Amino acid sequence: MHEQNPVFIPGPTNIPDVIRKACDIGIMDHRSAKFPEILNPVLAGLKKILQTETGEVVVFSSSGTGAWEAAISNTLSAGDKVLAAEQGMFSQKWIEMCKRHGLEMQIFAVEWGESCPISAYAEALKADTEHEIKAVLVTHNETATGVLSDVSAVRKALDAVGHPALLLVDCVSSIASMDFRMDEWGIDIAVAGSQKGFMLPAGLSILGISQKAIAAMEKATLPRFYFDLRDMLKHLASGGYPYTPIVGMLNGLRKSTEMLLEEGLENVFARHHRLAEGMRQAVLAWGLKMCAVRKEIYSDTVTAIVVPKGYDGT
Ligand SMILES: Cc1ncc(COP(=O)(O)O)c(C=O)c1O
Repeated sequence: MHEQNPVFIPGPTNIPDVIRKACDIGIMDHRSAKFPEILNPVLAGLKKILQTETGEVVVFSSSGTGAWEAAISNTLSAGDKVLAAEQGMFSQKWIEMCKRHGLEMQIFAVEWGESCPISAYAEALKADTEHEIKAVLVTHNETATGVLSDVSAVRKALDAVGHPALLLVDCVSSIASMDFRMDEWGIDIAVAGSQKGFMLPAGLSILGISQKAIAAMEKATLPRFYFDLRDMLKHLASGGYPYTPIVGMLNGLRKSTEMLLEEGLENVFARHHRLAEGMRQAVLAWGLKMCAVRKEIYSDTVTAIVVPKGYDGT
């Protein structure tokens, strides 16, 4: 029997008992030969889920917000110009973090419910002939509004003008639930967390990192220590961590990646689509309005509904 209360929020999502139990293991010496038996399958599984063969993956003990910080602090320097779209609470927060790190933001604010403004990005990249823009941010799935953005179109906009900026993508609420192709879409850093598609509690942040992003780390001067990807990559390569890892959660992640790959990513995506479509049909049949303004940008993980006037959302 399922022992938990189901929750219907964008995350944390419900945790299958088998994953919750996988987190409950005895204390282990993380510098012993046993630890790589947990770590290595996690890293191999994550690469498959992020759909990267050429990139690296790392896992920090933090929530997804830590991965945002790792992405920018490892690749950028104060004063660097960054292109971003403000389209909901999460994209807004990442922008705020960039500002606090002293980055110079070029922001396109769109109506909440809209997706990443590809043509505005394309124009800004074309106009930037001096290549002052060092990174482009995209929130693949804006959890606040239930809107999916086209990351591959942003890659095409970069390539169309031969722009070298890094492509940093927040896939916290899309990964392991909707199609996400790190290599094919030319993503330099993918930012994720454990408590959504991976079906775990919050507490792990997951990053996919391209070789181009790894090269950028040497030039970047923003301060970092806990989230220094250079230390992390070096230690993970020899089966360990630069500090004490959260071993039980990593064992849960091993189970979750195993389950996702066993089901098959295509089937996972189809399952989310089917459930989301059922939800959307119900919402529309109730006469309510979706927050996402067009059906092409509907998210399959979050259905955000506009609260009718006179009603209290809570
Ligand atoms: C799209 C998106 N980005 C970032 C975050 C921040 O992640 P966390 O709350 O795990 O720090 C969330 C959390 O819900 C999110 O949905």
